[in-house]
Amino acid sequence: MAVTIKDIAKLANVSITTVSRVINNKTEGVSEETRNRILQLVKELGYQPNAIARGLVTKKTKTVGLIIPDISNPFFPDIARGVEDSAHIYGYNVFLCNTDDNLEKESEYINALKEKYVDGIIFTSSSIPKHEHIMELVKSGIPIVIMDRRVDSEDIYGVFLDNYEGGYIATKHLIDLGHKKIGCITGPLYTKSAKERLEGYKKALLENGMDVDETLIFEGDYKINSGIIGTEKLLGNNKNVTAIFACNDLMAYGAYKTIRSYGYKIPDDISIVGFDDIQLSQILEPQLTTIRQPAYDMGLTAARMLIKLIEGKKLKKKIINFRPQLIIRQSTKNIG
Ligand code: RIB
Repeated sequence: MAVTIKDIAKLANVSITTVSRVINNKTEGVSEETRNRILQLVKELGYQPNAIARGLVTKKTKTVGLIIPDISNPFFPDIARGVEDSAHIYGYNVFLCNTDDNLEKESEYINALKEKYVDGIIFTSSSIPKHEHIMELVKSGIPIVIMDRRVDSEDIYGVFLDNYEGGYIATKHLIDLGHKKIGCITGPLYTKSAKERLEGYKKALLENGMDVDETLIFEGDYKINSGIIGTEKLLGNNKNVTAIFACNDLMAYGAYKTIRSYGYKIPDDISIVGFDDIQLSQILEPQLTTIRQPAYDMGLTAARMLIKLIEGKKLKKKIINFRPQLIIRQSTKNIG
């Protein structure tokens, strides 16, 4: 049976708080003799302070929570990698929580992280725009950094991408290649990131004298299957699309599957642009032209921001916006 802080306190004839203070080098008010007696017992009995016990005094457990909506989408492990690498540098552990885009699971995980006394939470919510519970969390005083899916509030710290610019440059690239019939498979339009990418698509069309044809827009859910179905709709409505902007790479992969099942070639018959630039996109045949989100760097930045908040440091900026980058590969062709 592991030695507990209670055993040490009993044997040293002091309180648990005194033992915890000595273990955490908070020894003001503790005599030299008591301090040495406690440290001797800790050494002899091989006591391992547990994170919660340590946290009782320092009020810190050196752990942070990371809540993401879909661990099966490679974009989020890239984020998690950045968070973990950054947290590790500062001596923090990370509890990873996957919500499957489920609001109930999200609330359960928030409570679980509070019970674990995490020092802060990085939050990529699935439930925006219903973000009252996020604002409650912000007001609860636990340091929070929102990332990726924007929450419109003055009170939050966040790390985001300029999704509007991303949708714009993806569509502009296709227009510059001479495409006039460009389909768009969006993400779930309850998320701000999906809405902004669609707005960028529309802006590029209108700015280049082209109409927005709503029959060329299909609402997906960022999963492969919605790319398959959305492309079926776009190919089946006799609109003769020559290009498709899929608002994330997984849906672009679904579009590849459908285009080939219809006997068409990429990019000879149909050009495709994705969004995220997850690792698979550069080894796909043909390699996917896409919009890069610096997911790893966004994760590094979010963790650095959160740890500064936890440690009471002043932050120069509450919101950090990353810029998207067009990565031209082999899935788009000039037809002008
Ligand atoms: O691929 C998943 C999408 O959801 C990414 O584009 C990211 O922005 C997240 O919001």
